[in-house]
Amino acid sequence: MTTAHLSDASAPAPPPFQVRPLSDALGAELIGLDLSAPMSDEIFESVRDAWHRHLVILLRDQHLTEDEQVRFAERFGPISMSTRGHFQSKNPAIMLISNIREDGKQIGALPDGEMHFHTDQCHQERPAMATMLYSIEVPSVGGNTLFANAYTAYETLPAALKQKIEGRKALNAYDYDAAATTRGTKPREGVPAYWHPIVRTHPATGRKALFVNRLMTVAIEGLSDEEGGEILNTLFDHQEQRTFVYEHVWRPKDVLVWDNRCTLHARTDFSDKERRLMRRVAIKGEKPI
Ligand code: SIN
Repeated sequence: MTTAHLSDASAPAPPPFQVRPLSDALGAELIGLDLSAPMSDEIFESVRDAWHRHLVILLRDQHLTEDEQVRFAERFGPISMSTRGHFQSKNPAIMLISNIREDGKQIGALPDGEMHFHTDQCHQERPAMATMLYSIEVPSVGGNTLFANAYTAYETLPAALKQKIEGRKALNAYDYDAAATTRGTKPREGVPAYWHPIVRTHPATGRKALFVNRLMTVAIEGLSDEEGGEILNTLFDHQEQRTFVYEHVWRPKDVLVWDNRCTLHARTDFSDKERRLMRRVAIKGEKPI
């Protein structure tokens, strides 16, 4: 565990939190912050810096109203409003993620079970930069969120494969609904889709990250379905290696913020007999380059 401060005696006071790495792959818990309380710009910059260094940050035992959650999310950038209005919460910046049904109707998006690895809104021209999830109810087993380090995935690719994907784009399509473990190579007519570079450069860190995912990436520009599909499957298997992954086991009142520009996430299965309820806020991103 480290305290996030500079050692120089003339430096400003150390931020009032500790940083505990969550795994060798990525992630850090920030200990000692209350997100419901006002946070100075200086402290927030230390939070952002820890987020850039660790890609995913966790803050446990946070008692947050919807408005307090949104206020903290807005520190990262403007909110990307959900286009799925019926899953919006009272504060419209929040989308519920839940398997709960009331009168037979889902109250949230992405309801049931396992989900393949993906990045949020990668089917849009400007995918979400960050996503924040706050846990209200969690199952006793499963429903864990897995995070893969997309920098490491890129950096460890064989040189020949790096060369093959250099400068190429891939098509990302939102062609799933509740079935978040199936994907085809031909998205249905009219589904939201966008061509993005396979390798993107993070605007803040300058590092390159692999930007394809098993749930939504369906084709590589200029390659046949067969050749593109083969390369994509190799990339998916590579990026999902366990050594690149941190698995988060949720407790109620956890806040996780992940960077969609350099991580992917997935979800493990869980029982439909247990309730899972999360409040999600997404932050607008830039066009990947
Ligand atoms: C998501 O993909 O945004 C939701 C992840 C989760 O439910 O753990």
